[in-house]
Amino acid sequence: MKWMFGKTAMWIMATLAVATIAYATTQDAQLPGGDGKKILQTACTACHGLESVTGLRLDRAGWEGIVTEMISTGAQVDQKDYPVLVDYLVKNFVPAVAKPAGQSSDDAAAKKILNEACTACHDLDLVSDQHLSKDEWQDLVNSMVAKGASLPDKDTPILVDYLAKTYGPKK
Ligand code: HEC
Ligand code: HEC
Repeated sequence: MKWMFGKTAMWIMATLAVATIAYATTQDAQLPGGDGKKILQTACTACHGLESVTGLRLDRAGWEGIVTEMISTGAQVDQKDYPVLVDYLVKNFVPAVAKPAGQSSDDAAAKKILNEACTACHDLDLVSDQHLSKDEWQDLVNSMVAKGASLPDKDTPILVDYLAKTYGPKK
């Protein structure tokens, strides 16, 4: 009897595993990559399909609310996985209109870049005195990089956008 039970349990488990893998594979193609992807596939597929997730567009507070709610419903999300999952959802499934809220954090990022890359040789007064167009800022930033400012390529557009927006041409 014990042996029979074990066999059956094994068979059920194997079937479930195959079904789960097949299920995960079909869903895989539609999911953007990222650290949270696996967590999502593991923790969020037990009770419903991922369409209820990927169809939504929420800001950070919205996703935190959903994930917290799902955890209280029974989703198994480790404490350490929680921020990874929320970041993944926020990054990939945000509403188009949530951008303005994101803008202030872009600004914060740009200010950080400015402080790190542009204060080694002179005051930022030199910067805030300028009124330049985006092209002119691009040229100026290029020339500062040529002088030795250490600005990673990926940060350049963020900084230039910020400078053009904040210290644009005088109207
Ligand atoms: C223990 C079962 C269970 C697990 C695991 C689970 N959910 Fe849910 N989820 C539900 C139920 C039940 C509903 C529908 C009831 C409702 O809307 O409140 C739901 C609905 C949802 C909805 C639609 C909510 C809405 O307001 O329209 C989203 C989005 C969602 N879940 C996301 C997730 C995410 C993300 C995870 C993984 C962290 C997850 N779920 C894991 C049970 C679960
Ligand atoms: C390696 C040193 C160095 C770093 C780092 C640096 N600058 Fe400069 N910057 C200079 C020097 C030297 C001058 C003044 C001489 C000149 O204009 O040729 C200057 C002048 C300026 C001016 C005034 C230009 C003008 O035409 O009056 C602005 C604006 C400026 N920098 C912005 C920046 C920005 C933005 C950054 C960060 C991306 C930055 N700088 C980083 C060396 C640097």
